[in-house]
Amino acid sequence: MKIILLGAPGAGKGTVAKLLTDYDGSVQISTGDILRAAVKEGTDLGREAKGYMDRGDLVPDGLIMQMMEVRLQQPDCEKGFILDGFPRTIPQAEALKSLLEKLHIRLDFVVNLEVPRDVILDRLTTRRTCSNPDCQEIYNIKSNPPLPDGTCKKCGSMTIQRDDETEEAILNRLETYNLKTAPLIGFYEKEGLLKTFASVNSAETVEAVKKAL
Ligand code: AP5
Repeated sequence: MKIILLGAPGAGKGTVAKLLTDYDGSVQISTGDILRAAVKEGTDLGREAKGYMDRGDLVPDGLIMQMMEVRLQQPDCEKGFILDGFPRTIPQAEALKSLLEKLHIRLDFVVNLEVPRDVILDRLTTRRTCSNPDCQEIYNIKSNPPLPDGTCKKCGSMTIQRDDETEEAILNRLETYNLKTAPLIGFYEKEGLLKTFASVNSAETVEAVKKAL
């Protein structure tokens, strides 16, 4: 499959993407995960991105497009990909459209995950993420907790709260989403690619996406 997952922070993009990769081996490409790995490794990209991310602001479009041009041409994308958290602005969506045309890649569709704001706020403050960059399993202390000692059920590493999970950063991320990312719903509707799913239950959403493929 070749799809984009669109949705507010905490809508469940990462959770749904991980479940979908088990379906047909398509690769999950999360710009957030790539950026967090760059921050951890202390690369030039990571140093430039960290301040934006910690505040809950978007990283500049130019940096994201450079990163994604390289990523989308890596061999593992040939069997399919799930774009999680990209594109995030109209300029990114326009640049992606040109890039996909250049690479002769056709998207199946764009999945818009719709979740009520109160559910999102609750999910983001209760999320835990595996600290192992090769695992990054997502947990929720209410709906899907890690082991009682806080370690990951999959790889045994410690789970952590992300640096952008302060209340201030979460509110800024939601506002940034409304201002800069929500307009993509209209963009992809016009392109005839948009499919909206009420996504309160991730397993049901995954089944609905599979059916639509
Ligand atoms: P990114 O990592 O993409 O963060 P985000 O969009 O804010 O999305 P999240 O990862 O917070 O949420 P999610 O929708 O994946 O939800 P999840 O599945 O984890 O980006 C981080 C930062 O990087 C950005 O702020 C920006 O600075 C930068 N960045 C990234 N991409 C960029 C781009 N393209 N351009 C510019 N800057 C960019 O679920 C959340 C919680 O809910 C979890 O605890 C989960 O267990 C729980 N949950 C999920 N589904 C359910 C369910 N059905 N029932 C109960 N609990 C559930």
